Amino acid sequence: MAGNPSIQPLSWDIRLKIAIGAARGLGFLHTSEKKVIYRDFKASNILLDGNYNAKISDFGLAKLGPAGGESHVTTRVMGTYGYAAPEYVATGHLYVKSDVYGFGVVLLELLTGLRALDTKRPTGQQNLVEWLKPMLSQKKKLKTIMDARIEGQYSSNAALQAAQLTLKCLEPDPKRRPSMREVLEVLEQIEAVPIEKPKNSMFTSLHSAPHRRAQRPIHHRSPLHTGHRGGSV
Ligand SMILES: Nc1ncnc2c1ncn2[C@@H]1O[C@H](COP(=O)(O)OP(=O)(O)OP(=O)(O)O)[C@@H](O)[C@H]1O
Ligand SMILES: [Mg+2]
Repeated sequence: MAGNPSIQPLSWDIRLKIAIGAARGLGFLHTSEKKVIYRDFKASNILLDGNYNAKISDFGLAKLGPAGGESHVTTRVMGTYGYAAPEYVATGHLYVKSDVYGFGVVLLELLTGLRALDTKRPTGQQNLVEWLKPMLSQKKKLKTIMDARIEGQYSSNAALQAAQLTLKCLEPDPKRRPSMREVLEVLEQIEAVPIEKPKNSMFTSLHSAPHRRAQRPIHHRSPLHTGHRGGSV
């Protein structure tokens, strides 16, 4: 999406549709009898058909969820920098809610049109969540980080609700993140928000020419390895 500038950007409606489809997919995994934790939720693992129906792909890292009243699974840390939940990176503790964090990162990418991790951005801006999460809670700042290419396609109320949902998904404490079912409900509400004419079109954009970059997989040897900043392991 943020790759080739000659490619038409996805509209707000399509972005929402993709988010809803992916939320349904993750929600299905989480509520299945065995509670599957997907573990590698990111934009490149959401495949789209010709109608932008989302399919989650690449189940190589998926784990069966906690059994017998346990809250988490402890496992070797695998995943992708920029998307992996902080508790998982720090401790190897994997919760169903760790996927919700990854979903929040993808939501932030959909809102801003920027990649979760981009080493071509200046220092301090390479990790999208670290950089822009603080802007999500303020309406004025939100305007400045929304993808300028979809300006005018959504109501400010819809954008604000989407930003608040993103923030909840990115809560540092997994227990405070919503379930995917709750996420889906909010996204469907946002989809139903009628469009209004934007009063203020003084949008400024953070976008320089976006570059396509592969995300780096995390291959920790020790789950206790911490303190990195999107670097190699
Ligand atoms: N079946 C498919 N049809 C179309 N494109 C695909 C398909 N599978 C993967 N891709 C695309 O190919 C690219 C590489 O996918 P691949 O799964 O190898 O790497 P990745 O998603 O970046 O990382 P990971 O290995 O963690 O999944 C991605 O852009 C992905 O969207
Ligand atoms: Mg993939």
